[in-house]
Amino acid sequence: MTISITPKTKKVHVYYTTSPNAGALQWLEQSQTSGKQKPFLFTQSQAILARTWVPCMDGPGVRFTYTATIRTRPDLAAVMSAAGNSGTKTADGVYKFEMKQPIPSYLLALGVGDLEFRPLGHRGGVYAEPNVVEKAAYEFVDLEKMISAAEELYGPYRWERYDLLVLPPSFPFGGMENPRLTFATPTVLAGDRSLVALVAHELAHSWSGNLVTNATWDDFWLNEGFTVYFEQRIMEKLYGREHSEMLATLALKDLKETIEELGATSPDTHLKLNLKGRDPDDGMNDVAYNKGYFFLRLCEETFGREEWDGFLKEYFNENAFKPMTTELFLKHLNTYFKDTSKKESLHINAWVYAAGIPDNCPQPQSSEFEKVSAKIEAMKNGTPAVQLQTQGWTTHHWLYFIRNLPDSLKLEKLIEIDYAFYFTRSGNQEILCEWFQRCIKAKYETANGPMRNYLMNVGRRKLIKPIYTELAKTPEGKAWAKEVYTKARPGYHSVSYNTIDDILK
Ligand code: BES
Ligand code: ZN
Repeated sequence: MTISITPKTKKVHVYYTTSPNAGALQWLEQSQTSGKQKPFLFTQSQAILARTWVPCMDGPGVRFTYTATIRTRPDLAAVMSAAGNSGTKTADGVYKFEMKQPIPSYLLALGVGDLEFRPLGHRGGVYAEPNVVEKAAYEFVDLEKMISAAEELYGPYRWERYDLLVLPPSFPFGGMENPRLTFATPTVLAGDRSLVALVAHELAHSWSGNLVTNATWDDFWLNEGFTVYFEQRIMEKLYGREHSEMLATLALKDLKETIEELGATSPDTHLKLNLKGRDPDDGMNDVAYNKGYFFLRLCEETFGREEWDGFLKEYFNENAFKPMTTELFLKHLNTYFKDTSKKESLHINAWVYAAGIPDNCPQPQSSEFEKVSAKIEAMKNGTPAVQLQTQGWTTHHWLYFIRNLPDSLKLEKLIEIDYAFYFTRSGNQEILCEWFQRCIKAKYETANGPMRNYLMNVGRRKLIKPIYTELAKTPEGKAWAKEVYTKARPGYHSVSYNTIDDILK
């Protein structure tokens, strides 16, 4: 859209309606919600979908404030990434919002549904459908502790409130850091608080991303790499080093797998991307998150934690509400730290402007995972799965266990493992995602029913993409996947079905 203005122009009014098919919006029938009683609407603007529901300058380097009035049925509540979320439904279905702090368009967000609220401390709480809200309040009980831990690390929380909105299962991401109101997948509600790193992650974006914002999507790692690093620091503070090392170990494995998929020399494995002419969504991957994380961890290990934290605190403070490029960040780094030999030892160019994982990548150490590896060894040497000592294992032990099973696992062994640990019947969707990939490889057909059910009910891209990808590797698998997908697709958000369409085409 081009609007001609004159030197005298002070204001431009744009009157518009959005299309029902706007890519950012998902309009859910009541049957597609958790409670199955009332319809639901939510938005997902990142990366470049804000333009599909609001005319705007849709790049992360431009910021605006906004006010909004939302009118809905009185039995539904509206919430936004702004001030005005009050925790109660209004009698007339009218909601007013104001975001006084300038934000980039990708953080513009709206949710409407049968929402209830539970406070969690004095400046946070959770919105969710009535049948989910108690479970959510249980899961996120540590919210205030996380906010305080984050503040102790890198300075005051600048957005006043931090609420969460738990979405229906079709939400295509794990979490989305909409300011003042993080959007979260219901798959995070494992029932045992084991997946709350996701909250630490979205909260950390309140500094890395929402305050200091990647100037372009080519600088995406400045948002996500810094956020994974910050998330890890929050997790370490709350749950100890062993826990955060488990997360880091899984992250390194993810990174290696992503690089293998993309190719060892792929430019998409540079931290600084070149997305010219592409939909940024196609080039944004794990590398920004995990290669970014390990680079920043290397900086910490090189300069020492205290100095590094001093730098980060200043970086967030001085650049708050501003766009940041990779080059400007490197300049700040270079000015703040004086020790040339330390700086040289980082091999910045290899990390930022070259492919793959540089040789000086930090290596996480998890003694818990070493124990898991020992059990896998024992199994290889003939110990039956039921006899393995697995008391006290958490979601992450199990994820590590499944991911490190030998590639060549025979069907009988897989069945034996399933009889011992009931993975196929797990209620934890991260575990199911890993497990189903194994089942497909080994042609374990007993899992097909539960897997169909899962694909029909989970819309989070990260949890369905690997399964469709694995299925698509054989003609029978692909045929089965297509049949399930025909039924599941209408329930997915555009972000998810655009990816899956590509895999099954
Ligand atoms: N901002 C991202 C989600 C995103 C990235 C949306 C790119 C659209 C384009 C969010 O903070 C995120 O990283 N979510 C992760 C969870 C996290 C714990 C790594 C996700 O959704 O899996
Ligand atoms: Zn993120």
